[in-house]
Amino acid sequence: MSGLLLLLVGVLSLLVCVLRRRIRRDNEPPLVAGWIPFVGKAVEFGRDAQGFLLQQKKKFGDVFTVLIAGKYMTFIMDPLMYPNIIKHGRQLDFHSFSDSVAPVVFGYPPVRSWKTPSLHEDIQRAFKLLQGDHLCALTEGMMGNLMMLLRQDHLGRRPGAGPGWKSGDMYEFCSRVMFEATFLTLYGIPQEGGRHDGMDELRKDLFQFDGWFPWLVAGVPIGLLRQAKTSRNKLMRSLLPMRISSWSNRSQFIRRRQELVEKVDALKDVDRAAHHFAMLWASVANTIPACFWSMYNLVSHPDALQVVRQQILDELKLSGVQFSTDTDVTLSRDLLDKLLYLESSINESLRLSSASMNIRVAQEDFSLHLKNERSANVRKGDIIVLYPQSLHMDPEVYEDPQTFQFDRYVQDSKGGFFKGGQRLKYYLMPFGSGSSMCPGRHFAVNEIKQFLCLMLLYFNLELEPGQTRATVDSSRAGLGILFPSAKVHFRYRLRCV
Ligand code: HEM
Ligand SMILES: *[C@@H]1O[C@H](CO)[C@@H](O)[C@H](O)[C@H]1NC(C)=O
Ligand SMILES: *[C@@H]1O[C@H](CO)[C@@H](O)[C@H](O)[C@H]1NC(C)=O
Repeated sequence: MSGLLLLLVGVLSLLVCVLRRRIRRDNEPPLVAGWIPFVGKAVEFGRDAQGFLLQQKKKFGDVFTVLIAGKYMTFIMDPLMYPNIIKHGRQLDFHSFSDSVAPVVFGYPPVRSWKTPSLHEDIQRAFKLLQGDHLCALTEGMMGNLMMLLRQDHLGRRPGAGPGWKSGDMYEFCSRVMFEATFLTLYGIPQEGGRHDGMDELRKDLFQFDGWFPWLVAGVPIGLLRQAKTSRNKLMRSLLPMRISSWSNRSQFIRRRQELVEKVDALKDVDRAAHHFAMLWASVANTIPACFWSMYNLVSHPDALQVVRQQILDELKLSGVQFSTDTDVTLSRDLLDKLLYLESSINESLRLSSASMNIRVAQEDFSLHLKNERSANVRKGDIIVLYPQSLHMDPEVYEDPQTFQFDRYVQDSKGGFFKGGQRLKYYLMPFGSGSSMCPGRHFAVNEIKQFLCLMLLYFNLELEPGQTRATVDSSRAGLGILFPSAKVHFRYRLRCV
């Protein structure tokens, strides 16, 4: 199946290349040529993006242009140049890229069209409902949902009388709990109360779709990807406006988005469902692997886990809570903010597992200022890419970059992170940058903190004996948090406190 696809895409791309071969102009970045450029470089990139980019950097320097999946992408490899790219608001636009990709991937009509005036701005404005004061309600709701799920599914009826060790697939564990808790928090509960039926199936469809996500982003029509299409249709049917409206206790954020897509007559109900599906995807597709890595890195570093757990217990005590596994615990947003060891270890896990690209599209031909006296000419429509993974893995910025050091960000004794003797303004970028910064980042970090707090407070956690070290699967390189390449088996047991 995918062999045939590859061939098809290859032929298509050859055509594209012959038709629009590019010749380097004055003061443009070096152009990396590739034999079957469309697929050739895309496949190399997918296999080992980081290695591929470092190799090009050695040959061509800090700035170069590559043809990937039919698009000319100029990579900026020097993090000292990042601030100049990120602040280029008008000439370098983020949304023209996401607007051309997201509708095709998720199946709704283009957002910035005359048929839907102000929809784009309205949607952007609604992202505020994920932040600031609104985060308190979301955090509170998430807390209740996580606690409820752990009680019903994992803590047993009579806490304290646990049956000893249970084993599990760590990814599956994180995925089930985080998916359902996030879903309940954002989309609310069934009218009759309790939990939604069919959560597992919804989640499986979402991740089946997600498996095809790299292909869809690369521009392969969904018509050629039957499985992607089937799961997308199923997901849309589950998120039709009528269904969502019947759920109670929906978050303000989702209610606002419903209003926004409801009032646009040019949208059909399936289009509205596609918007809801896109949001559901955004809210879990990166959070779940991020949650997994945060948990895995602590469980595989018991000393770090102990320090993190102790700080949670200490802060609880300071706020007047004597923790016991017999009772439910509530961790307010204020308390979560104080857990610096936990936060640092989550940051460290994000550093090690994130491989998102930050993309900007040149809105006109212009000379892009890079650093000091240096600049490069770019053409209208060119894509400028920051690839923070190469920053996250740079041994000059992060000593021993492959190792997990849970307190790396707490022990910030040097007063920051440096490259070539200069302090870096941007050194950790799992959530993008500037205008394309993830609007759900605070909610995401809070969710992961809550999940880990509960896991650490209620359970003893260990890797199963003989479990080998987890490594990242790079097939989503460029698109967010990477998945583990193999299963991780762990065991858990109720703590006696
Ligand atoms: C660890 C978890 C997460 C990571 C690593 C992450 C990462 C990102 C990144 C890198 C972008 C920018 C995309 C780009 O530059 O092309 C983004 C955008 C976005 N994220 Fe997240 N995200 C996470 C969790 C969430 C959550 C929990 C939500 C919502 C509840 C969310 C909602 C969004 C939305 C709506 C956008 C698009 C923003 C726009 O169109 O301007 N994300 N995310
Ligand atoms: C509804 O959501 C709020 C927080 O948004 C939460 O405190 C409350 O417990 C939820 N109610 C139910 C029945 O889940
Ligand atoms: C973790 O990273 C975020 C930025 O992504 C930063 O604001 C925060 O201060 C970091 N936390 C710690 C403990 O260093």
